Amino acid sequence: MNIKAPRGTEDWLPGRSERLRRLLDIIVHRAQLYGYDEVITPIFEHTELFTRSVGEATDIVQKEMYTFNDKKGRSITLRPEGTASVVRAFLEHQVQAQSQPTKWYYHGPMFRYDKPQAGRLRQFHQFGVEVLGSEAPEVDAEVICLLIDILRDLGLTNYEMHLNSVGCPECRVEYRKALINYIEPFRQQLCADCQRRVDINPLRVLDCKAVGCQDLMSDYPPIYDYLCPHCNQHFSQVQALLETVGVKYELDPGLVRGLDYYTQTAFEIHIKGIGAQSAVGGGGRYNGLVSELGGSPMPGIGFAMGLERLLIALELSGVAMALAPQLDAFICVLDAHNARQGFTLLKELRDAGFRCDQDYNQRGLKAQMRLADKKGARLVIILGEDEIREGTCTIRDMQEKNQETMPRDQVLNYLKSRVGTR
Ligand code: HAM
Repeated sequence: MNIKAPRGTEDWLPGRSERLRRLLDIIVHRAQLYGYDEVITPIFEHTELFTRSVGEATDIVQKEMYTFNDKKGRSITLRPEGTASVVRAFLEHQVQAQSQPTKWYYHGPMFRYDKPQAGRLRQFHQFGVEVLGSEAPEVDAEVICLLIDILRDLGLTNYEMHLNSVGCPECRVEYRKALINYIEPFRQQLCADCQRRVDINPLRVLDCKAVGCQDLMSDYPPIYDYLCPHCNQHFSQVQALLETVGVKYELDPGLVRGLDYYTQTAFEIHIKGIGAQSAVGGGGRYNGLVSELGGSPMPGIGFAMGLERLLIALELSGVAMALAPQLDAFICVLDAHNARQGFTLLKELRDAGFRCDQDYNQRGLKAQMRLADKKGARLVIILGEDEIREGTCTIRDMQEKNQETMPRDQVLNYLKSRVGTR
């Protein structure tokens, strides 16, 4: 049998999985400080949810969804992103009727059938937040500040924040015309995808990664000249708020994001050198999405971060994440007849909150010491023949390389004094 994990998916073995857990702990802590609560939605949804929200013309819907029919012939899709599911849950559970805004965070695996490469996977992990029920520019600034604070908590400083406003459907009528006028003379030279995009959503052409299209589009009209007074004012207020709290950003009129639901504020965080794609996070407003999915009109905004890309960025920048300690103690029992005494001590220490383990395969002392070392145990508690007879145990400090023998009932206090109270 030679079955491997599907291309673009990864196993997270201990060590790396611990880094992911720690990364999430740091991020979730900050989101909770900002007053966000966790929401958990299914990993698969009805396909229509994503076609209606993410948009028919997007690469995600056109090429990247894992879609299949279930046994009753219903079209199901593994979620390519979290926003659509969160809004669906918000509506399905009538949260819209409660006082607003609703501030939720989520994390978990997302699925996109993309070409795998460094930092681009078919199953990847996102952390995201969504705020529903407020159009206030302060909410845009809060969401961006949360993203920036998370990066600061992680020790990442080498990022660029790109900011744009993609306007509302009203501003887009004129902007769409301006873009089509600009594109028309070289339309036939665009890639096949973009030629199709021009009619469905010409803004998507700005997001094309093909070098030929990027060259042709280099002189595109910026959207700022087409923003309606309301969107213009909102965008200015968001910028003023960010400046007030010292958040640095670059205006990027070409930033349209890869999903169709965005209106007004759009932003992305880039870190160079992490792979072919430098975006570690991105998001924006989606004031039309709630009504698109059947609710009464209600504004929303959020972002998502790619956790694999954040880990790559952390590795490259040499930022050490303080990982949880490994084992506090490893118990070495030297005679199988005494296994029960070892097991009792193990249970007692675990009940007191210490991270402990022991050997179950009757290895000799040397092999058990090697195992304890491999598991990163701070202390090794030896229960040999003498210790069993005398009701003692010998404790070796693996860091300080010394050992002492003490009565069994003193072990707990000794552990507390060496590795702290748990
Ligand atoms: P997105 O820009 O498509 O936005 O994805 C957010 C982040 O997920 C990206 O910046 C990137 O770090 C990571 N990511 C995306 N695709 C992959 C992949 N194939 N492999 C590894 N990482 C990837 C969204 O998903 C929106 N739902 C964000 C949002 C929330 N907007 C409003 N609210």
